[in-house]
Amino acid sequence: MARSKRITFLAELTKGYHTVLDIGSDHGYVLLEALQKGYIKKGIASDLRVEPLLQAQKNLENQDAKTILSDGFLNIHESFDLAIISGMGAYLIGDILNHAPKDDITYILQANDKPEILRTYLMEHGFMITDEFVVRDRFFYVIMKVKRGKMALNSKDLILGPFLKHKSEAIPYFEKKIQMLSKLLNQVDEKRKQEIKELITIYQSNL
Ligand SMILES: C[S@@+](CC[C@H](N)C(=O)[O-])C[C@H]1O[C@@H](n2cnc3c(N)ncnc32)[C@H](O)[C@@H]1O
Repeated sequence: MARSKRITFLAELTKGYHTVLDIGSDHGYVLLEALQKGYIKKGIASDLRVEPLLQAQKNLENQDAKTILSDGFLNIHESFDLAIISGMGAYLIGDILNHAPKDDITYILQANDKPEILRTYLMEHGFMITDEFVVRDRFFYVIMKVKRGKMALNSKDLILGPFLKHKSEAIPYFEKKIQMLSKLLNQVDEKRKQEIKELITIYQSNL
């Protein structure tokens, strides 16, 4: 079955890792793709809810993968070298990372909204972004590669992304942001209007 560009891209980012934990795996498609393509050796699919976990178990039944019912990292006791947290809100990803292991593992994070909130969280909680990507699927999705470490981002970096701001493939994403924000201008009060204008200026400065 053809997978969405977002799922395919997430799976490609697992290349070269051994054991990959997918938190909030839902259907388990990212791990399925990564295992089927031979990008990784083992998968751990975990979810807060039983129903999606059973679905992942079914989808992954012929693969070297296990499923674990867990709220974020709380019930994960196995070792892994990459963790994926994708398809959730930025605040929820932050809540989950509050209990991330202290070990030197890599994270692939994809928030459905507010990447600037996620970048702020990462900076304030001892994580550093090591790369960023944007994928155009049904929407634009920002994906971050992250490790534990220190980073200092200014307000422009928080909005644009310290790596995305240098990538030409991110320009259509910035243009879309400008378009969406411009539409909002007529629907908000003066204070919000000023904030939106500042955001538009930041996006425009990077085109
Ligand atoms: C929208 S789906 C995203 C699925 C997949 N990760 C993706 O990128 O397509 C979000 C999944 O996260 C799960 N989830 C939400 N909060 C969670 C938590 N605290 N710990 C583990 N899973 C969680 C939900 O049950 C749901 O299956």
